[in-house]
Amino acid sequence: MSAPSKPPRRSQAWFGRDGKQGFYYRSWLKGLGLPHEMFDGRPVIGICNTWSELTPCNSSFRELAEHVKRGVYEAGGFPLEFPVMSLGETQMRPTAMLFRNLASMDVEESIRANPIDGVVLLMGCDKTTPSLLMGAASVDLPAIGVSGGPSLSGNWRGKPVGSGTGVIEMSEMVRAGTLSQDEFTEAEACMQRSKGSCMTMGTASTMASMVEALGMSLPENAAIPAVDSRRFRLAHLSGRRIVEMVREDLRMSKVLTRKAFANAIRANAAIGGSTNAVIHLLAIAGRLGVPLTLDDWDAIGSRLPCLVNLKPSGEYLMEDFYYAGGLPAVLREISQHLDLDALTVNGLTLGENIADAPCWNRDVIRPLDQPLRPEAGIAVLRGNLAPDGAVLKPSAASPHLLKHRGRAVVFEDIKDFKARIDDEALEIDEHSIMVLKHCGPRGYPGMAEVGNMPLPPKLLRRGITDLVRISDARMSGTAYGTVVLHVSPEAAAGGPLALVREGDFIELDVPGRRLHLDVSDAELARRRAEWTPPPAPARGWSKLYVETVQQAHLGADLDFLVGGSGDTVAGDSH
Ligand code: FES
Ligand code: MG
Repeated sequence: MSAPSKPPRRSQAWFGRDGKQGFYYRSWLKGLGLPHEMFDGRPVIGICNTWSELTPCNSSFRELAEHVKRGVYEAGGFPLEFPVMSLGETQMRPTAMLFRNLASMDVEESIRANPIDGVVLLMGCDKTTPSLLMGAASVDLPAIGVSGGPSLSGNWRGKPVGSGTGVIEMSEMVRAGTLSQDEFTEAEACMQRSKGSCMTMGTASTMASMVEALGMSLPENAAIPAVDSRRFRLAHLSGRRIVEMVREDLRMSKVLTRKAFANAIRANAAIGGSTNAVIHLLAIAGRLGVPLTLDDWDAIGSRLPCLVNLKPSGEYLMEDFYYAGGLPAVLREISQHLDLDALTVNGLTLGENIADAPCWNRDVIRPLDQPLRPEAGIAVLRGNLAPDGAVLKPSAASPHLLKHRGRAVVFEDIKDFKARIDDEALEIDEHSIMVLKHCGPRGYPGMAEVGNMPLPPKLLRRGITDLVRISDARMSGTAYGTVVLHVSPEAAAGGPLALVREGDFIELDVPGRRLHLDVSDAELARRRAEWTPPPAPARGWSKLYVETVQQAHLGADLDFLVGGSGDTVAGDSH
């Protein structure tokens, strides 16, 4: 009896053809200078590239892709690089998040439509990571993530400056009158001083850490600086490995199990990671049918300590983190809380990958019994103000505000906020709670990072640096403060947030996981009867997005993109 024959490689449905069809599929590619043997059934590896000068964080990716190709060729594969929509966090208006799902569609359809057996995902700036993982997950071919890596530590006049965090700190100093505009402008060139993503533990570094904790990259992916030769070595090794993964048929769904997501949630707590990871991981899990809910974030990760002493929760930057041992050292430290048998892309378990991971600096990566913060992770709050949930990052909050009752100062939308926040007559003090509406997925649209509202100058001058702030927005992973985010349902969807009025009292109780609007049900019903939904965009992507986007507690994916369509494609191109 003969062994059951393996199905032919996916790319052979293009390249292994006779006649006119095979001619079409091979001939134009031969225009690149490729010999005929490249089409002999060797694994065809797509290199999904988000390089763009409008995404400066990903501007090293042409070079990175060349190193991936070396590894692919070396292992006997056939690399083909292709561009997808790149999302630059700092340039795109109204917010790069509006386009995360659009980019994921580009990724999904580009992979499925083309003769690809496996794919290397080059990701860096915030939204480029979830959009590539989401799109690739809906096709479910073998895939490996390669992050671009953080930029070198910012340095201004001999002092470290962290991406994003430094901007927030210094702009508040300008508003308080303690830093001149000239000094502020000088600092611009001193913060991002090399290619690479934000070098704080912001969203990009968080998501690169999620990629590694999920098992979707080789170990050390999260922290190697973008310009360090070891980043290019990692790209080379990843190119080599994806070819083997195709031969082993190691698909994304075998790596991205519920165990893997639980490990990532725990890792997020230990690194003091961004609240944005909540939305992105929910959306990625949704593409694979992995059951994961907002409440899992609290149940799985919220009681774990933060060990990584990086801005915005701590002092150091990503370069320091890499030199201290990076994510493997953190995962080893929390290994008793992890599912160590989760499979990773190198074919080993997470436990095998981190078993001997060294730590070289105990101030940057703290031991489990001497954490930076004893309870970190994401707190999920509920109450009549957020029936479907809201989130808060305790490690970035002020301990004295975690239980607080205050009078609401209400901003109807971001324009209203910007128009009034600097007004000296604004009725606000250190006990107030700032409320911002219409910044959720439908409201902004796209759910902007504006939830960490800057404080009024008159309070800054008095040395007050934090206030409870509540919104349906997100906040940058580089931001900090006692900020309640992702209130769901959002104001623009008729959530109770829409009904809050100036002078209402609100109770925040983070230990009790409660967010309560102190207004009677009867009064809320009266206000609801007067509420009308805001106008919707008339055409184009924004219209499709607003009509189909899910609420934040579900991951803000488009409702019709949840799940996947696999790698099957019908019909020839001619
Ligand atoms: Fe691109 Fe922060 S703005 S990584
Ligand atoms: Mg950001």
